[in-house]
Amino acid sequence: MMKRFPILLTLSLLLCACGGKEPLNIPDPGPYKPLDPADLYPASVFKYGLKDLAKANGVMIGAEFTHGEYTGDDSLRVVLKRDFEAVTFGNEMKHDNIVSNTGSISFVWVDEMVRWAKDCDLKLFGHTLGWHSQQQSDYLQTLIDGAADSKAAAAAVREAHAEFVDKMVEHFDVYAWDVVNEVFSDDGAGSWRSSSNTQANYHVFLWGDYYEGGTKGFVDAAFKEAKEALQKYGKTADLYINDYNLEWNPAKLEALCKYAEGNPDVTGVGSQMHCNTDLSEDAIKNMLTRMVKTGKKVRISELDVPQGSIPTNTQADLIVTIFKLYLDIVPEAQRGGITFWGVSDKNSWLGKGKYPLLYNNAYQRKDSYLKLHAYLLERAGLEKDS
Ligand code: G3I
Repeated sequence: MMKRFPILLTLSLLLCACGGKEPLNIPDPGPYKPLDPADLYPASVFKYGLKDLAKANGVMIGAEFTHGEYTGDDSLRVVLKRDFEAVTFGNEMKHDNIVSNTGSISFVWVDEMVRWAKDCDLKLFGHTLGWHSQQQSDYLQTLIDGAADSKAAAAAVREAHAEFVDKMVEHFDVYAWDVVNEVFSDDGAGSWRSSSNTQANYHVFLWGDYYEGGTKGFVDAAFKEAKEALQKYGKTADLYINDYNLEWNPAKLEALCKYAEGNPDVTGVGSQMHCNTDLSEDAIKNMLTRMVKTGKKVRISELDVPQGSIPTNTQADLIVTIFKLYLDIVPEAQRGGITFWGVSDKNSWLGKGKYPLLYNNAYQRKDSYLKLHAYLLERAGLEKDS
């Protein structure tokens, strides 16, 4: 790496002498071209990873990855070590990955990832203790079918959830948990999610159907269980309520923030931000301002930014804007961090052709990476060519 600096200097001088543009202003070469023109990068790109610059600005930066991705490509290790402080597993801590269809619990698979993440010096975020999707619905259905009556079925389901939370909290050392995920509907009125407003999907199970007080009853219970388990095992972790579309759906945002304000067991509010480049600055401002007002930690939990319909809006600009607004609006003591939902475009849950992340299919830095890097560097008051 050291050998690059003299080349870099010479190149910069040459560029200046020829009236050439600064390296960071090179146009985005697009997602597929080999991007790592190492000698065109300012020295700071090699000196600081994104995590150093995020830290220097008082925010933790994280990324999601899955088992398939970590076994598939060693470039992931390089990128995670260099650029991220925290990690979320995309699927592996979900109910249907931990609990089998007979109800037995196994951590073998996920523990391999935990060890690997520790090797990469990554802090762990727990996703998720309660959701409607990717639940072990086969097992839960056998509990219901085997119960003498509906009261016994409800008790069995509630016990299964409490046991899951207890075992998860005992087993994993994480800095925070998504205690519940996506418990509000998309109806535009901020209603709780229920069987009537939820589409059948992959391993769906509506826990709320079995709790007094419906989904709210389930959410109350989930936070209580998580808090009690932390106390029981002498652990501390932030406890989040997390949802999507908060930037587009003011009623959902309000419902989530109101709930958080009313429950002292909730210590954080999470906004997934699976958005696109059409998102306006005002929408982000409004969302973050309302979330901050709850007094809880505020986290952007699953950020990805594919291209929207307005061609002039770029991914790089929106990602920088999101970081800027987050740092401007969320006081340092309330910052729960920003996590990207994925590392390389190749493995995004959105599929091929969306390019929503910071690295191209070959794990090379995209223009969005460079612009975010430059922004965080400047905001932290660091020199780009030192
Ligand atoms: O391995 C299974 C197989 O056993 C199963 O029978 C089959 C059924 O479709 O496919 C395989 O499961 C896939 C699973 O990921 C594991 O790889 C599912 O098809 C696939 O739909 C599932 O996608 C995940 C998705 O959640 C499910 O809703 C994505 O990887 C994951 O990134 C995504 O993450 C969610 C967050 O948890 C919550 N917020 C939204 C976010 C994006 O959807």
